[in-house]
Amino acid sequence: MKLTNEQAAGRIMVALDYPDANAAERLISELQGIPCYMKVGMQLFYAAGPSFVQSLKERGYYVFLDVKMHDIPNTVKGGANSVAKLGVDMFNVHAAGGSAMMEAALEGADMAISGSGLKMPSIIAVTQLTSTNQATLNEQIGIEGTVEAAVIRYAELARGAGLAGVVASPSEVEAIKAVCGTSFQTITPGIRPTGSAVNDQSRIMTPSEALKQGTDYMVIGRPITAAANPRLALEMIIEELTSHE
Ligand code: C5P
Repeated sequence: MKLTNEQAAGRIMVALDYPDANAAERLISELQGIPCYMKVGMQLFYAAGPSFVQSLKERGYYVFLDVKMHDIPNTVKGGANSVAKLGVDMFNVHAAGGSAMMEAALEGADMAISGSGLKMPSIIAVTQLTSTNQATLNEQIGIEGTVEAAVIRYAELARGAGLAGVVASPSEVEAIKAVCGTSFQTITPGIRPTGSAVNDQSRIMTPSEALKQGTDYMVIGRPITAAANPRLALEMIIEELTSHE
């Protein structure tokens, strides 16, 4: 399948990992006109707040609010209700919160959109953070087995609760899709175009390798945000994806 420029841009989630709205706006203005997804994480959301998210929506961007909710079901239901009212296209919760918590997120978002004209956001589960290695998983968190087995089990739990997909490493996409079905979405960080710095990511893939694995969206931060020319960096990634068979 060949992607158009617009389809490729829409699969790239630019991680706006900035301390405040001004810093994020500098990057956004450099990328102006490219219809990519914008990912707002906790650093920027805690600093710039709901009005920043609303302003991205007013400018027509797709927004993934990466705030990884994890609390009792009633509290997550309220949180989901609030963020769905902002019109975000996607947000996430921890699968470790269990089925009732994930179902509460769906309920809260559904209540927010009903009668509002807003569309239902995709709710995505965080499985195991990529910073968790097997020793941490087994000895600190108390889950036995491999990280991959824990990721698959959480993905199945999220699917059972009715969520739209999971955040995962690109190397886990095939196994997740095999168990949860191809329409269950995967959102993958750890993407590094050939020649860009690896930074603190392990288990990286290039954009075209990740696309080949079947990833639905790729989260890309520093290869764009820390590039000398962020617009050119993003355009080159789009070019790589559109030339992929
Ligand atoms: O700069 P870089 O491309 O490494 O940014 C990756 C983004 O994806 C960051 O916002 C990071 O918080 C996020 N992320 C990640 N690994 C996860 C979940 C989210 O790197 N497992």
